[in-house]
Amino acid sequence: MQHLSTIILALLGLTLATIAGFGFMSGSYLAWLALILLALLPWLHNWIMAKRYLTWKEAYSVGIQTLDDDHKRLLYLINTLDTAVHYQTDIAFERQALNEVVDYTQTHFAREEKLMQTHQYPDYPDHKKQHEAMIAKVNEFVQHYDSDRDGTIEELLNYLREWLIHHIQGTDQNYSGYLTSRGVH
Ligand SMILES: [Fe+2]
Repeated sequence: MQHLSTIILALLGLTLATIAGFGFMSGSYLAWLALILLALLPWLHNWIMAKRYLTWKEAYSVGIQTLDDDHKRLLYLINTLDTAVHYQTDIAFERQALNEVVDYTQTHFAREEKLMQTHQYPDYPDHKKQHEAMIAKVNEFVQHYDSDRDGTIEELLNYLREWLIHHIQGTDQNYSGYLTSRGVH
């Protein structure tokens, strides 16, 4: 499933090439139209891929530089994993990209939790529970990935993307005012 858009584009390319071939044989203007559309396919492929990538928005900021930097790095690492998957790089490279997302997520959670704990943030226990649930879910995905890479990686990527953006925009925003009012920047 993860290469569905690539397969669709390949089939489209094949169809357009066939139309162009028959079009030229029969002298139809459709041949030229098919050729133009064929030339646009690489651009269409890049556009589809670029839309998948996560981009940082100011609205994601929690007002604390180190945590914003962590969140930016996590977006970058998820995009790197996405690139490894969709450009079908070496499996070892893909696994490395996956490990980096998982490792840096844990590093970031530890940093965030330490700040909340230090400043006695009242919702710290609930926030920590969300982090723990996420790590447990990702570990479950990674176990499945080891036995069924193709059946797992797309779902894992979607989970990482959706969970992270949802968490940054929701739960993380809740500590922002509390911590910044205590001088954390
Ligand atoms: Fe968090």
